[in-house]
Amino acid sequence: MTAMTPSGLFIDHLEKSPTTPTLMTLATVGTDGYPRTRTVMVSGVGEDGRVSFHTDARSRKVRDIATCPKASLTVLTPDRERQVTVVGDVVPDTPTGERAAFARRSRYLQLLAWLNDADLAAKTTEERRRLWAAFADEHPDLGSSGPPETWAGYAVVPREYLFWTADAVGPSRRVRYSRAGGGWSREVLPG
Ligand SMILES: Cc1cc2nc3c(=O)[nH]c(=O)nc-3n(C[C@H](O)[C@H](O)[C@H](O)COP(=O)(O)O)c2cc1C
Repeated sequence: MTAMTPSGLFIDHLEKSPTTPTLMTLATVGTDGYPRTRTVMVSGVGEDGRVSFHTDARSRKVRDIATCPKASLTVLTPDRERQVTVVGDVVPDTPTGERAAFARRSRYLQLLAWLNDADLAAKTTEERRRLWAAFADEHPDLGSSGPPETWAGYAVVPREYLFWTADAVGPSRRVRYSRAGGGWSREVLPG
């Protein structure tokens, strides 16, 4: 068996996760120096291992990325037996990638991308539901009309992977891969 690359191991980890969509905890750093985390969907993993996600261009995470284009993300399997953390540089997605990711989103998430702004959030629940239903009626196929201008995609290009594995009858263990020249260095660490 050939040794897997760290990005191959990461994809294997995602495939072993039975949740759809796969979720990650994404950390960015604000201008105040504090990291902030939130859950986002993994939109995909590129051939070079970059992990893409899509979001609202007006969001906090996008402001953070504009001043500090670095992030960390964690994917935990639902059985909590495996965790992968990735650290890397954040790069923008291409317009084609953004459109494709929007087209793959569920109808509900497409509506959310179009509607969920600060103005709507400030309204009463009743009014928000009324505006939502009216917009949904007027736009039966958002997949073909495409994303709003506020739809933005990014990818984390890995420079470090940390694979944590539980062992019910022994100590947990981690393997760290760090970018080294054109390849990866590998280090085994305690849990
Ligand atoms: C299960 C789940 C999935 C989510 N997926 C996304 C996502 O793919 N993109 C996104 O922008 N926000 C997603 N969110 C909302 C984010 O957690 C967050 O509230 C939002 O992006 C605003 O974050 P920010 O203000 O830190 O930028 C998701 C939340 C949950 C609970």
